Amino acid sequence: LVAFDSKAFREALGGFATGVAVATTAAGGERAGMTITSFNSVSLDPPLVLWSLARAARAVRLFEAAEFFSVSVLAEDQAALSDRFARQGNDKFAGLDLEQTPEGVPVLTGCVARFDCATWRHHDGGDHLIVVGEVIRFARWERPPLVFAGGGYQRLMGQG
Ligand SMILES: Cc1cc2nc3c(=O)[nH]c(=O)nc-3n(C[C@H](O)[C@H](O)[C@H](O)COP(=O)(O)O)c2cc1C
Repeated sequence: LVAFDSKAFREALGGFATGVAVATTAAGGERAGMTITSFNSVSLDPPLVLWSLARAARAVRLFEAAEFFSVSVLAEDQAALSDRFARQGNDKFAGLDLEQTPEGVPVLTGCVARFDCATWRHHDGGDHLIVVGEVIRFARWERPPLVFAGGGYQRLMGQG
């Protein structure tokens, strides 16, 4: 395999425009959340979604052990939340307007959609862990989504 430039690799991947989401979980009195763009759908029956989690992230320990997690899909006006959950901070949730799932997972408000998941499988994904969740509950709100492409936040075209 030819070694290639990882910055160029990341930039090329950035050509694939995605939404932006925040994955959250809680266990043993601790909570964790992180901004993700690797979120995607997997299966309709059973309803499965996936995302990849950097093994270097501090939150990896909590997500790896978590029975439940949630994915909040961010709205166009939530870029600041994306930045907040992409930074290493002691309590990324401090001062936010939060809700809690019946399973005790803290979730964000004002989002476009939310998928509450039971951890289904973990798969090896090189320097990332591939997390597959079975969706046990979801909700959707009529708001324009935040878009990430080319290394920055974008707006969806055609919404006036
Ligand atoms: C737009 C964007 C997308 C990201 N997507 C992912 C992702 O899919 N998986 C991941 O592990 N980290 C992703 N990150 C980085 C994590 O959000 C960041 O490393 C996280 O805050 C680490 O949390 P920690 O405090 O647990 O280390 C992304 C960051 C940004 C800004």
